[in-house]
Amino acid sequence: MTYTGSRTTNGGWALVTGACSGIGLELSRNLARRGYPLIMVSNRETELIAAAEQLASEHGVSTQAIAFDLARPDASRSLYEEVRRRALDVDVLVSNAGMFFFGEAVEADPDRAEGMLHLHVVTPSLLARWFGGDMRARRHGHVLFVSSICAWRDFPGIAWYGSSKRYLRSFSASLREELAPWGVSVTCLAPGAVATDLYDKTGVPVQKAVKYKVMADPARIAKAGVDGMLRGKAVVIPGLSAKIMTAAMATMPQGLIHLLRTRAPFLPMPDKEPSDR
Ligand SMILES: NC(=O)c1ccc[n+]([C@@H]2O[C@H](COP(=O)([O-])OP(=O)(O)OC[C@H]3O[C@@H](n4cnc5c(N)ncnc54)[C@H](OP(=O)(O)O)[C@@H]3O)[C@@H](O)[C@H]2O)c1
Repeated sequence: MTYTGSRTTNGGWALVTGACSGIGLELSRNLARRGYPLIMVSNRETELIAAAEQLASEHGVSTQAIAFDLARPDASRSLYEEVRRRALDVDVLVSNAGMFFFGEAVEADPDRAEGMLHLHVVTPSLLARWFGGDMRARRHGHVLFVSSICAWRDFPGIAWYGSSKRYLRSFSASLREELAPWGVSVTCLAPGAVATDLYDKTGVPVQKAVKYKVMADPARIAKAGVDGMLRGKAVVIPGLSAKIMTAAMATMPQGLIHLLRTRAPFLPMPDKEPSDR
């Protein structure tokens, strides 16, 4: 469904995944504010349609809502074909959709873990393959991957999440080199902790974290991401504390990670010693 407004940039659309909440909704809002018509993609249809209608009326841009499960193995090709069917040229691709869970890697629900790898690794890479190819042919465009500061460190308890975000950081850097000569920029956005629904039901005390400014406002993260992307930056780590944490994590000895794990209640330790299992 299209919600029509009057403002456009040069006619190219911005496609944002995970657009109905959190950072993705704020990235969409920021792009709409700059005049980009939006293709908003997410899982929950009702919320997505409401968000698309709201941004169209707030900012006077056209918006299209495509409800899609991006954790499906064939998601990237099907989404690309749907966008082609609608005859939309994508100038900005934002791969933001994500999920999160804590736990021992070998205790993870295998379907959930597989879904995460599709959502964080396969789908963003192949979306960049399809839409990036079109951008290269047109000699302009922007790709933004939403990774995380945990891409700079290997953490127990978030092996599936952290390593998939590390992949995105690496893929983004390689793709950037390949597409730069063709006028296409590739940026990796790596936020620290942000107050969104991502941590829902994981036991992270979000309200407290916001109160003590441990978690950032998603609108601020989105602004830094879009500013950095349009300036053609390679990596955007929004905020001083996230920058300091990234530098610290990159140089931290692994022993300290082990100590943190024994102290932090949200990084699970096995109930029993390995020899008892
Ligand atoms: N919050 C943080 O502290 C933080 C820090 C660093 C990086 N990030 C990254 O930022 C990105 C956005 O997360 P957020 O914090 O804004 O959390 P969020 O509010 O939970 O947003 C996640 C978005 O991804 C979408 N999504 C999840 N599974 C999907 C699927 N199978 N198919 C289609 N869409 C799906 C969700 O849509 P539905 O609700 O419709 O499923 C939602 O719009 C993620 O990649 C996350 O890893 C977050």
